[in-house]
Amino acid sequence: MRSIVKEFPGVKALDGVTFDLYEGEFHSLVGENGAGKSTLMKTLSGVYPFGTYEGDIVIEGEVRQFKTIRDSEKAGVAIIFQELSLVKELTVGENIFLGREPSRFGVINWSELYQKASQLLKDLHLPIDPRTPVGNLGIGQQQLVEIAKALSQKAKILVLDEPTAALTESEVETLFTILRNLKERGVGMIYISHKLDEVFTMSDRITVLRDGKTVGTEATIGLTKDKVISLMVGRDVGDIFPKISHNFGETALEIKNLTAYDLDNPNKKLVDNVSFNVKKGEVLGISGLMGAGRSELLMAIFGAWQGKTAGEVLVEGRRVSIDSPAAAIRNGIGFVTEDRKRFGLLLEQTILDNMTLAGLKKISGAFVTHRSRETVAAKGAMQSLRVKANSPITIAGTLSGGNQQKVVLGKWLLTNPKVLFLDEPTRGIDVGAKQEIYAEINKLAATGLAIVMVSSELPEVLGLSDRVLVLHEGKLAGEFTRSEATPEKVMACATGNL
Ligand SMILES: Nc1ncnc2c1ncn2[C@@H]1O[C@H](COP(=O)(O)OP(=O)(O)OP(=O)(O)O)[C@@H](O)[C@H]1O
Ligand SMILES: [Mg+2]
Repeated sequence: MRSIVKEFPGVKALDGVTFDLYEGEFHSLVGENGAGKSTLMKTLSGVYPFGTYEGDIVIEGEVRQFKTIRDSEKAGVAIIFQELSLVKELTVGENIFLGREPSRFGVINWSELYQKASQLLKDLHLPIDPRTPVGNLGIGQQQLVEIAKALSQKAKILVLDEPTAALTESEVETLFTILRNLKERGVGMIYISHKLDEVFTMSDRITVLRDGKTVGTEATIGLTKDKVISLMVGRDVGDIFPKISHNFGETALEIKNLTAYDLDNPNKKLVDNVSFNVKKGEVLGISGLMGAGRSELLMAIFGAWQGKTAGEVLVEGRRVSIDSPAAAIRNGIGFVTEDRKRFGLLLEQTILDNMTLAGLKKISGAFVTHRSRETVAAKGAMQSLRVKANSPITIAGTLSGGNQQKVVLGKWLLTNPKVLFLDEPTRGIDVGAKQEIYAEINKLAATGLAIVMVSSELPEVLGLSDRVLVLHEGKLAGEFTRSEATPEKVMACATGNL
């Protein structure tokens, strides 16, 4: 890619980026939220067609002018997008071959389609039935289906835009094994990730983008994580977890004997008799492995769990009955969910509309909406969270991933909650923005907000929490104060070895 320039109204997303990839190379592309990584890859893959950017795309010595994604696919480029793009209502097999279904005399050959899909899934060691509707799979598995789909195109260049954000550790291992095999076969890979551990394990070279420009491309061997981070943010980051002790007040939320049952199997307890409390101004971290019941616990308290639940919820000592998210919000609970596309954000709407959705009542009174008051509140939240966007009426879907997450956070803050649930609050967020969000969490705690945070990133849980609860197979397996909580102890507890 030579001197690529790509502009959106009011934003120069790419400002003369040059990038190259060798056969069989694993080349990572890193940079802060909004640096231009996804835009560069959408340019490469024809999402932004020839004529809407400047510069040249050259593959195997030939300048290419892709008008559509299909054109780039034919030239051997396959892309796995940051936001999942499968059709939930269709089966896994239908999704894999969408638009390229094997057919005879114009009629789709279903048995061939499913046979091919099943072979492909088997090659990847994915125990997924190709006849399952995609909507029935978890996000991790959906991501692996996206990968199977890209592979079915026999790509020479495979682009992966944050493929592991929603994968479990074992799914990540599966993916990496697949990628190592592809590398052997000469497939070149462009890998976008905010997880520098992965980037350093897998890459031959690393390119850093900042504000739409390339800051450098170097062999991984010559780089350190600190060096990459400082290239990304343009400064030394310093300590991202300053030791701040919070002053606690009275109990804000108390949970007694909470149990949540599996939706499909009503005898199975996903959360098993969990009790805990959190005080005003306290940050309570909830740790545990994937599937330990952490998200289910928060969903059940919030009235968002579809299956059966039992137990008591007390807000400021008062017993409340929460049978829906609306009731939870009324009782002063806010919830930043892990899957921002499904629960958090309306991508076609403006930042303003997104931020004021849940907060509508609080800010505007029950029946009337005060546009100007809302705008002021939303602008304030955008500023304090440093959302990178032109104005509150920017469409949320055009923001970079991390900035979308900040909008979700802002939206809940405008509901003035007493207790705020954060589920994987910094997933897909760059280091600089993470640091800002951590500072924000500390600031919120200092104002007396009680915070309950679920995170798979241990440094995040240990760095922010005053107290850490560990779940194992739905049960409360341990509790540690900040000074007691070490990575070793928490992990031992999470794996059932303590
Ligand atoms: N369709 C669009 N319309 C307008 N602006 C856009 C559009 N897509 C991206 N932008 C802007 O272009 C810039 C680069 O965005 P891009 O999505 O490429 O960032 P990114 O590096 O992938 O970030 P992240 O790590 O958060 O995914 C951002 O300022 C973003 O707001
Ligand atoms: Mg992106």
